[in-house]
Amino acid sequence: MCGIVGYAGSRPATPILVRALRDLEYRGYDSAGIAILGSADGEGVEITKRVGKIANLESALDASPGSEATTGIGHTRWATHGRPSDLNAHPHTSCGGEVVVIHNGIVENYAALRSALIARGHAFASETDTETIAHLLEERTKSGLSLLESLRLTIAELEGSHAIVAMSPSEPGAIVAARVGNAGGVVIGYGEGEMLVASDLAAILPHTQQVAFLAGLQLARVDRSGASFINGDGSAAAVEPRRVPIDPVSALKGQYEHFMLKEIMEQPEALSDTIRSLVTLEPAGVHLDDLGPISERLSEVRRVILIGMGTSLHAAMVGRAFIERLAGVPAETDNASEFRYRDPVIGAGTLVVSVSQSGETVDVLEAMAVAKAKGAMQVTICNTEGAQTTRVADGTVYTRAGLERGVASTKCFTTAMVALYALALRLGEANGHLGPGQLGDHIQDLARLPDAAARVLQDHAPYKTLANHFYDARHFLFLGRGLAFPVAMEGALKLKEISYIHAEGYAAGEMKHGPIALIDRGFPTVAVAPAHALRSKLISNVEQIQARGGEVLAIASEGDQEVAALANHAVFIPAVSEFVEPFVATLPLQCLSYYIALRRGCDVDQPRNLAKTVTVE
Ligand code: AGP
Repeated sequence: MCGIVGYAGSRPATPILVRALRDLEYRGYDSAGIAILGSADGEGVEITKRVGKIANLESALDASPGSEATTGIGHTRWATHGRPSDLNAHPHTSCGGEVVVIHNGIVENYAALRSALIARGHAFASETDTETIAHLLEERTKSGLSLLESLRLTIAELEGSHAIVAMSPSEPGAIVAARVGNAGGVVIGYGEGEMLVASDLAAILPHTQQVAFLAGLQLARVDRSGASFINGDGSAAAVEPRRVPIDPVSALKGQYEHFMLKEIMEQPEALSDTIRSLVTLEPAGVHLDDLGPISERLSEVRRVILIGMGTSLHAAMVGRAFIERLAGVPAETDNASEFRYRDPVIGAGTLVVSVSQSGETVDVLEAMAVAKAKGAMQVTICNTEGAQTTRVADGTVYTRAGLERGVASTKCFTTAMVALYALALRLGEANGHLGPGQLGDHIQDLARLPDAAARVLQDHAPYKTLANHFYDARHFLFLGRGLAFPVAMEGALKLKEISYIHAEGYAAGEMKHGPIALIDRGFPTVAVAPAHALRSKLISNVEQIQARGGEVLAIASEGDQEVAALANHAVFIPAVSEFVEPFVATLPLQCLSYYIALRRGCDVDQPRNLAKTVTVE
């Protein structure tokens, strides 16, 4: 889950690489580094790398003489093998300085490779698995092979999944790249007289929207005049560039202090864009244009398994309820990292729905590979055009949230739920569970969602006040029932990931079976209790907490004085239909987490130890 970039063109590479690393920093920020081909003296490779955030790298670069070199590579690291340090930062080079490498993934057999290399006389400078790749490449380039051929032969020796980018002074102006498995994508960007290579689109889009994606076992060689591609067996690969429709301006933070706040506030528009792309009001209809062959097979679906990780798994949990209720089809959810290893039973008529905003999460991709091998129909919910999940699934339902940069997912959660709502409606329509009148009613409800979301987000004063009150709590319990249960889980995840407060999300009915022992004044509870979410049952839970001296913040529907009177604090959300409640109930929890993290002085957009896209196990 590191960020990778390479540039080969006619402009000075350093500022382009540094800017790209800023765009990729959300993938990891344990260290950052660049290498340029042609040092200040015009010879060899010059590497600058520093532990910590990009700012440290920038300071180091400011202190050294500027270089006009026009070819270079850069990396922002999320540490796996080897602690974060200057030495372990990428790029890595071989002992002879013949080759310089950046890498995303884990060389699972690196210990054996390293021992063998040491036995052959190689000296290692770092503790990383990546350095073995540089040494293996150097052995081959020294024997006269081209850098691309050396990389092709080297990847055959590596276990695991990888994205690798390398260059060498022996091939000035050129960069080679390989993608092996699902550890991370490799995107090639086609500029005017310049080419880019990156782990994802964020680094490419400021320069060009003309891109090509490497598939599972493919390699590329780029120089300023273009790109050539081969497969792992050495044959020529047919990789065609295409234009991706993402507006680079949306990547900017605009008026907001943090991407997370910007993305929270973008939700009414993101929801509206997603809804408009999937349904029509008059005549009422659901139009899932990217479902591919699955659109003809929906009536065959007898069982649905929804998979995802983190926030996307919580969206999947809401989707499960949508599918059962609206399509009458048995549905279950599974954590993709469990699903991939548990040899799941997939019979005829099983539809696997994966949810992944990035479409690059390795556990999701591996789970999809298992589902594919077992013959499941597959649909993926994704926010990234052309992402890997969309190329594995039979069909895709795209969300239209725009780029999400905050590590804490916000708008991609709510828009994924829209996509799942639309998929459930389409499934219910196809199998006859849903009548035309009901379909129309649901679409009307969805159409009201952006406005209800905007109302929740209008006034942040209550969230700031609550944050001031709760910011020094050490633990939080989040409770919900029915459709509000995944919302409670998501509320707890948001709080813990950005504020580092321990938080647990529980099905409220479970509370009496253990968690209630924790309750005291210093262990506040957030009760997600809108009108439809088994409200009366949840009221009993709130009473039980109150009886034990616990402090309760309730998320309640407008006008619900009974819940407000029971709780110590209440935030009201607009009264909406049952299926729209999870969307509007989520927004106060996102705001609460944001302001608590802000009040605690946390790094909201780049929480410690996390990365936006998790491309390692
Ligand atoms: C949530 O805020 C996190 N960023 C994380 O749980 C995330 O949802 C998870 O890593 C899955 O990512 P994906 O949607 O890109 O697959």
